[in-house]
Amino acid sequence: MSERTYAMIKPDAVAAGHVGEILAAIEVAGLRIAALEMLRLSPAQALGFYAVHEGKPFFPELMAFMTSGPVVALALEGDDAIARWRELMGPTDPAKAPPGALRARFGTDITRNAVHGSDAPRTAAEELAYVFGGRVLDGLR
Ligand code: RTP
Ligand code: MG
Repeated sequence: MSERTYAMIKPDAVAAGHVGEILAAIEVAGLRIAALEMLRLSPAQALGFYAVHEGKPFFPELMAFMTSGPVVALALEGDDAIARWRELMGPTDPAKAPPGALRARFGTDITRNAVHGSDAPRTAAEELAYVFGGRVLDGLR
């Protein structure tokens, strides 16, 4: 079933000049880019986005990282898009990711791991609405 997920190219990968390679990997994998925007998360936006992790030991470092520079926000669409994008990214820790995974290719450590992807239909819908509001074209194709 066609579905949408929220993806983000994080500040480390943008700063290192990996936007093009990551977008190419998305298209080669057959996921459709339904929306794309470069933005810089404010501290309040970063906090809202990762609120589920508030209070965890890594949270301050995560906030500093996610507000350190621009990100590329994406709505990706396709059959099983949520799981397929998570598979392309690989696990949270780049050191544990298989060689072809984006986090293995472009991530530095468990915080600076290059890309984000929603983990379930509900979080995908929430994250897409949080970042894009009504600006993602309506209707799955
Ligand atoms: P994401 O939400 O960014 O797609 O990553 P994820 O689902 O694979 O991992 P999650 O548990 O949701 O963690 C969100 C982000 O917080 C940073 N993190 N640092 N130092 C640490 O132990 C640690 N754990 C998580 C990473 O940037 C991770 O992607
Ligand atoms: Mg997550």
